[in-house]
Amino acid sequence: MDSYKLLITGGIPLMGETYVSGGKNTSVAVIPATLLSDEPCTIENLPDIEDVRVLKDILTDLGAKVDYLPESKRMTVDPRNVHSWLVPYRQSQRMRASYYMLGALLGRFGQAEVGYPGGCSIGARPVDQHLKAFRAMGAEVEERGAVITAKGKMHGTPVYFDRITVGGTINAMLAAAKAEGNTVLYNAAREPHVVDLANFLNSMGCRVRGAGTDVIRIMGAPYLHGSTYTVIPDQIETGTLMIAAAATRGDVVIRGCIPAHMEALTAKLLEMGVAVSDMDDAIRVRTVRGHRAVNIKTQEYPGFPTDLQQPMSALLTRASGDSIVIETIFESRFKHLNEMQRMGARVRILDQTAIIEGVSELYGAPVTATDLRAGAALVIAGLMANGTTEIYEPGFIERGYEHIEEKLRALGANIRREPLEAQEMRF
Ligand code: EPZ
Repeated sequence: MDSYKLLITGGIPLMGETYVSGGKNTSVAVIPATLLSDEPCTIENLPDIEDVRVLKDILTDLGAKVDYLPESKRMTVDPRNVHSWLVPYRQSQRMRASYYMLGALLGRFGQAEVGYPGGCSIGARPVDQHLKAFRAMGAEVEERGAVITAKGKMHGTPVYFDRITVGGTINAMLAAAKAEGNTVLYNAAREPHVVDLANFLNSMGCRVRGAGTDVIRIMGAPYLHGSTYTVIPDQIETGTLMIAAAATRGDVVIRGCIPAHMEALTAKLLEMGVAVSDMDDAIRVRTVRGHRAVNIKTQEYPGFPTDLQQPMSALLTRASGDSIVIETIFESRFKHLNEMQRMGARVRILDQTAIIEGVSELYGAPVTATDLRAGAALVIAGLMANGTTEIYEPGFIERGYEHIEEKLRALGANIRREPLEAQEMRF
């Protein structure tokens, strides 16, 4: 249980300029990929978030020399003394993307032993497709209790994913980067962070072609040289800030983003009547009229991102009319809506569909974050609500959003932390 709660006094339109940090989901793929290099690599624009700090610990425990100063946003990894391929459960369960250590260690050593990952409780989240790819490339894979072991020299091969999986695609790319021969991934994920990883691998001398499409070809390279690489800005943080600006009926310019990555959200905000204007590396979001209800169906990229479904549903609680939200990616990603009902939201949930009936006002209330993006959704609801909202378990939010409280305060939000009283620690 976190020792503090977030207090938000809502009703203040966010105004001014903010910036987007480096991407969480790209950083947690690129950092493990440094293990594949035969020389030191430097990664820049890293967000100062828990997941990056966990990966630093994991790489250091494996024997890598890791220089990382969070405020510098830069991490240098010298993997030449990495002597172990074991990532114990006590480390792997600290985050979801620890499973990328399987692909990276298999790619480097032909051997890996990694504890099961942790991460947000938004569904079962099996890793069968990851293991299918490793087996296709020549690994013997066993799942023993809390640990996955994989062993075998990687060789190029076609891999047909039974469903589109971001993690499976990335893990297969990591395992294939030094494999003998060509690997072709069919039904691959097309997310921006898949492309970012491909660009990093290519900057080390690998030959990855087709990233961003559903067929990715990886020609393994026996030797990968060092590289200095800057990760892309966070697509989901960009979207969360856009939604917060619209939800508070403010006027915000979000700098350092890639507007092309935001098209699915931008289209929906425009459909609602929100004014969104793209600039070269910035997006301006302001409200010029009331918000119309819209329907959302989450899809793999370039569709509407499942990670923005939760923040978006907060915005929809105050749109005029009924909105229908269909979550097609994860089976349990509506918990934030139950929390928002305490704030006056009117919601009906039936399996993977939520019907959100717009209300004129939300009211501050005590709510609990159940996962990273649910926490973001509750922050947005708190910014919209009349009165003060208390958000318990806000630590989830810190996992994926760098300095989010400071960024919102700089835009005028009344958001602060408060230590929990003894009696609050009980529930
Ligand atoms: C990544 O999770 C992201 N996490 C998630 O972001 C994101 O929601 C998701 O991709 C979809 O975009 C990271 O990048 C660290 P998937 P991942 O494999 O890789 C099923 C956030 O908030 N599946 O694309 O776990 C799976 O259960 C997080 O930043 C299998 O069935 O997602 C899910 O229903 C939350 N078998 C669907 O596919 C597998 O082997 C998509 O999962 C793999 C996945």
